[in-house]
Amino acid sequence: MSVLITGGAGYIGSHTCVELVKAGYDVVVVDNFYNSKKEVLKRVENIVGKPIKFYEADVRDRDALVKIFKENSIDSVIHFAGLKAVGESSRIPLEYYDNNIVSTLVLCDVMREFNVKKIVFSSSATVYGVAKEMPLVETMPLGAINPYGRTKLFIEEMLRDLFVSDSDWSIALLRYFNPIGAHESGTIGEDPKGIPNNLMPYISQVAVGRLPKLSVYGGDYNTVDGTGVRDYIHVVDLADGHVKAVKWVLGNKGCEAINLGTGNGVSVLQLKDAFQKAAQIEIPFEIAPRRPGDPDEVYANANKAKKVLGWEAKLDIDKMCEDTWRWQSGNPNGYND
Ligand code: NAD
Ligand code: UD1
Repeated sequence: MSVLITGGAGYIGSHTCVELVKAGYDVVVVDNFYNSKKEVLKRVENIVGKPIKFYEADVRDRDALVKIFKENSIDSVIHFAGLKAVGESSRIPLEYYDNNIVSTLVLCDVMREFNVKKIVFSSSATVYGVAKEMPLVETMPLGAINPYGRTKLFIEEMLRDLFVSDSDWSIALLRYFNPIGAHESGTIGEDPKGIPNNLMPYISQVAVGRLPKLSVYGGDYNTVDGTGVRDYIHVVDLADGHVKAVKWVLGNKGCEAINLGTGNGVSVLQLKDAFQKAAQIEIPFEIAPRRPGDPDEVYANANKAKKVLGWEAKLDIDKMCEDTWRWQSGNPNGYND
């Protein structure tokens, strides 16, 4: 069985390539390397011990996609490609709508032409908007508070409409919580461009001396220690969730939104402490003002993933920190080393 992976050179895509090949799937990657490097795929090849077929192309390029579908017998698609920086999406919303929405439209249109109607889509917990209660359950009301979140929400709606129009489709809308960690080999991991927006890459770059100290955004939240609580999930568990979702789309019809989280909330200071323990390095920090729009707590109810996909997260916060540290300490400048 052959899976087309858009954005397969990215952080989550590269780890998913590894787990899919390990599970016996053939993978074909399409990526424009806007936010990744070709080196990533070489490292994936080293881990799995086989070549990875890839196309350098933009998913919005219909002709390029048609060529890929003509040259390969694709059975299903995982659509990771997209822009993902929340703050940037408010500065350049048109680029976000264009990249995220147009890529999905073109992709689904070409899939329909080739009668490949099985897709796993990278959604996000951000589609719950400002939730009134925790944990988040798939049936709760949806909303968006920034252009990035709106692109995910619109795409979910588009894919639901597609299924209503043609029930031959099989669609998994995977709502990720906060992916962190790296492959156990320490050879692939998260490598954000510029100064990281997200907590874990920020902590790990402080640990290798690329950044002086961590700013903890807010110390007066209504949480266990006053700092923000999130549901961190190991990227390898997340990748395994995609393997299970591919199996589900290949064997079922329907359109299902499914949370991929652990169900556990961890605070900023708890994550910092776990990282310090794993790396045996003190992380200097200060309590800074809150980041606008950040809620106190976000964590998943992960029951549906277990019921529908037979998947649950296995790796704990200590393992997430150990693997992040192995990646970051071995590659202090990411893939530029
Ligand atoms: P990433 O930026 O590391 O990977 C995305 C990949 O897609 C990159 O390799 C990039 O070069 C490629 N790409 C972007 N636009 C493209 C286009 N038009 N054509 C071809 N390739 C293109 O991001 P990631 O963290 O691996 O996230 C993957 C997906 O998961 C994204 O859709 C993101 O919105 C979603 N998601 C990520 C997180 C997270 O915290 N990382 C959380 C929730 C959802
Ligand atoms: C962010 C996005 C969310 C996206 C997710 C994916 C925002 C508002 N939300 O989620 O839409 O789906 O990334 O990765 O950007 N923190 C610090 N110091 C830092 C960085 C973060 O204290 O330097 C805190 C934050 O206030 C938050 C926690 O760490 O409490 C996690 O932040 P982050 O890693 O950015 O993830 P989210 O905000 O949950």
